Amino acid sequence: MRHCAPVWILPFACKGGMCSTCRAKLVEGAAQMEVNYSLEPWELEKGFILTCQARPTTDRVVVDYDHGLAVAASFDTLGASSQD
Ligand code: FES
Repeated sequence: MRHCAPVWILPFACKGGMCSTCRAKLVEGAAQMEVNYSLEPWELEKGFILTCQARPTTDRVVVDYDHGLAVAASFDTLGASSQD
């Protein structure tokens, strides 16, 4: 029997920082966005990020896509990632 890893289908549309479809709240860790054309200052203050533009700056990040769907990802020093 072949085992398959779970596949996460995460929300996105433009992949360019403009639409906010990928908006999530960063609940653990840190990330730096390349660009942000859509999040308002109050959203940034509340910890929201555009996941299409976010690059993790910590070994582990956890984001919440507004509806209780929390996704955790761990990154090793070579840049490979895994999802919990
Ligand atoms: S997919 Fe549009 S801002 Fe991220």
